[in-house]
Amino acid sequence: MALLPWGEQLAIDVGTACTQIAIKGQGVVVREPTVIAFDDGRRRPVAVGAEAQRLWERGVSAVKIVRPIRGGMIADFDSAVALLRRLIRQALGHRPFFSPSAVVASPASATGVELQALDHSLRSAGIGQVTMVQKPLAAGLGAGLPLYSDESYLVVDIGAGATDIGLFSNGLITAGYTVRYGGDDLDEAIIRAIRRDRGLRITSSAAEHIKKQVGAVHTNNGTVSVDDVVVVDENQTVDHYDIEVDWVSQVLADAFGPLIEELSWVVENLPDSSGRELEVGGLVFTGGCMLLRGLDELFRERLHLPVTIAPDPLSATILGLEAILSDLPALSLNGRRFGTNSR
Ligand SMILES: Nc1ncnc2c1ncn2[C@@H]1O[C@H](COP(=O)(O)OP(=O)(O)OP(=O)(O)O)[C@@H](O)[C@H]1O
Ligand SMILES: [Mg+2]
Repeated sequence: MALLPWGEQLAIDVGTACTQIAIKGQGVVVREPTVIAFDDGRRRPVAVGAEAQRLWERGVSAVKIVRPIRGGMIADFDSAVALLRRLIRQALGHRPFFSPSAVVASPASATGVELQALDHSLRSAGIGQVTMVQKPLAAGLGAGLPLYSDESYLVVDIGAGATDIGLFSNGLITAGYTVRYGGDDLDEAIIRAIRRDRGLRITSSAAEHIKKQVGAVHTNNGTVSVDDVVVVDENQTVDHYDIEVDWVSQVLADAFGPLIEELSWVVENLPDSSGRELEVGGLVFTGGCMLLRGLDELFRERLHLPVTIAPDPLSATILGLEAILSDLPALSLNGRRFGTNSR
């Protein structure tokens, strides 16, 4: 399989929180929040990416804000197309003369219908030929895993809406799982804990801010100050509050519980030979959530396997896609590695 020689060649990672686009030979040219704002009648897009995110955070009421990806999958097709069309144009800097082709990251265990929705959305946004690459393969390559090696690694990409898991061996993914659990669920855990323990109702953007400010799952001293109007009860609001860092760290560590259980289950259910190989290669983590400090120790302690974190966890998937784009024929093993949805 080869991408069409005419037209630009792109790599695209449509994430729940962030969409990234690279152009062959130019590197990553777009990194924007996966957010689009429409005018009030929802007919015309008025802003995308960081600009739309700002409108959302400011609570501008004249626009309707949509996050078209949920749990790593397309949840609002028309909004996804409008967003992708704009971001592709932004990446190219011009209206393309020939339709560009693209390698695109797909969730590890997406259904046929979900893959078709991703494929159709990209085609409707102007892509001519779409080549799907499983996320753990792209993330593993972006994390620097060797393409040709007998060792096996379990690649785990913890994004905002989903965690993609795949057994990476000899440049192939031999088992793939998607768990719908990620950074959005950590934010939700903070919202619930603050509601339960402090009686405050905070927004999801305030919870994400607290998570990033605390930045760790191990104990730390100090407090985080948050400026956010929250409703205490119907008659009372507060616009500033302090939260203890060690308390939030514990909430975050506890919120990783379901994911750790899922990973233990995956490891236990691998064939015996792969399980033994993992004792050498171990788990390789990517995705924005891995910017929280202390996760390597937490996973190592609970899973009893070697743990490595990608040098740039937020960029691993797009960097892996870009590597594939640069050397598609060498990497494709006669098309064995990638499913091409081009028709
Ligand atoms: N410094 C940080 N500390 C903690 N969490 C962070 C940090 N930076 C980003 N995140 C979290 O990482 C998540 C975004 O990661 P990423 O960009 O890998 O997700 P995505 O690719 O958009 O989503 P998905 O792959 O699930 O569709 C968000 O939940 C965000 O809050
Ligand atoms: Mg992602």
